[in-house]
Amino acid sequence: MGSLQEFNPSLWAVTAPGGDEHPPLAGSAAADVVVVGAGIAGLSTALALAEAGVDVVVLEAGRVCSGVTAYTTAKVTSLHGLTYAGLGAEVGRAYGQANQAGLDAVAQWIERYAIECDFSRRPAYTYTTSRERVQEIAKEVEAAQLAGLPASFTTTTELPFAVEAAVRFDDQAQFHPRDYCLGLTRAIVQRGGRVHEHSRVVGVDEGKTCTVRTREGGEVTAGHVVLATHLPILDRGLFFAKCHPKPSHAIAVRLEEGTPAIHGMYLGVDQPTRSLRSAEHDEVVIVGGDGDYTALEAWAAATLPVKAIEARWSAHDYVPVDGRPFIGRQLPGSHVFVATGFKKWGMTNGTAAGLMLADEITGRENRWRAAFDATRQWPPITSANLYKENAGVAHHFVGDRLAALKAPALDTLGPGEGGVVRTPGGTKVAAFRDEGGIVHAVSPVCTHLGCVVGFNAAERTWDCPCHGSRFTVDGEVIEGPATDDLARRAAE
Ligand code: FES
Repeated sequence: MGSLQEFNPSLWAVTAPGGDEHPPLAGSAAADVVVVGAGIAGLSTALALAEAGVDVVVLEAGRVCSGVTAYTTAKVTSLHGLTYAGLGAEVGRAYGQANQAGLDAVAQWIERYAIECDFSRRPAYTYTTSRERVQEIAKEVEAAQLAGLPASFTTTTELPFAVEAAVRFDDQAQFHPRDYCLGLTRAIVQRGGRVHEHSRVVGVDEGKTCTVRTREGGEVTAGHVVLATHLPILDRGLFFAKCHPKPSHAIAVRLEEGTPAIHGMYLGVDQPTRSLRSAEHDEVVIVGGDGDYTALEAWAAATLPVKAIEARWSAHDYVPVDGRPFIGRQLPGSHVFVATGFKKWGMTNGTAAGLMLADEITGRENRWRAAFDATRQWPPITSANLYKENAGVAHHFVGDRLAALKAPALDTLGPGEGGVVRTPGGTKVAAFRDEGGIVHAVSPVCTHLGCVVGFNAAERTWDCPCHGSRFTVDGEVIEGPATDDLARRAAE
């Protein structure tokens, strides 16, 4: 399994590397529930189940919390930009209450299991610097209040620039996501759960009893399976067509000594979007948003007294077609459950997903579940917006595109460069030349559904433009929906 940590490790990966080792799954095992994926959604599901007395096994392809959960800005809040005004009263209430419950569950688990993860209560803000958008802010405040959330309208912030208006949610939180997830993992084990790293799931045979198989040869039988793998692997619910991947970048900026701390957590809704929160005892500010690292660094230098840039990282997240995550059975009656489409708000949505899935599996009532139903087919998921969601995808499918692609010759690649190129033998390959001059060549055809991958120079990864699969320069899967590596190719 590839890892996002290879080239640009996040602040969280740098400051909390490693963690307890968990052995790969070996041989055959049985459990009540298998959870696939040890990010915040999978671990929250597993802990909620273990606390309910369910025998749970967690299978993680790499290390615990080495994927997208460790590549977030880690705001634990139910304020998600401008969300509530667009959801309608009923769904908005369910969405808001579920995310507040996610925040509460995080706080309770931290206390119950004494998890040290820099958890800190803070207000969250969605702001605009544009007079034209003040009404949108006011409407969001109104909708959030109707949903029972701790919202107020303000024009006052501690930001070093003026804002025209902001939504403020009180008593929200931030934390260190990797330290938190390592703590959740210890709690799962303490509650009798089993966790296996380096155990990549490659197949699920579904029936009254499900069998989950790993590439390393292990096998678990269980009554239920939860796919908490960002976008579900083995995607029978076709969630790849109902969500689109959205990349974002973040940098950790150490401020000059004596700079007043930024206490709140901020998201600007003007273009390009900008996100801020502090870390490291408020001596570091995480700046995130649209654009690449250069754009973020330029904005930070113009806005804050920057002493040094301490980390740079990026992630893809999945944005659902109708603005709500998909949580629950992947198909009606299925024993396989999913949680996906957190649209960059995975800390609370992922935790809420864990609570909802545990309730559904153990037969408990849950009043928010219907709003997130993963099998929902009614509008606004219409063929028109599904078409819109996927219109760009067809362009990238291989068809005869690879043959038509004008690929430069391999020897045009300099050290540190990558791209789809032509070998001397005339084959088109996805190639990266490292600083030592060695060429790493793989197939340019994504193993999910056959789009042509592109080189992500900032992260040194191969990224699929269709549904967001990512691969290392040697072709190993970092993130699905693909589960198979890109095939190695000869560079000749
Ligand atoms: Fe779907 Fe690549 S074709 S992720």
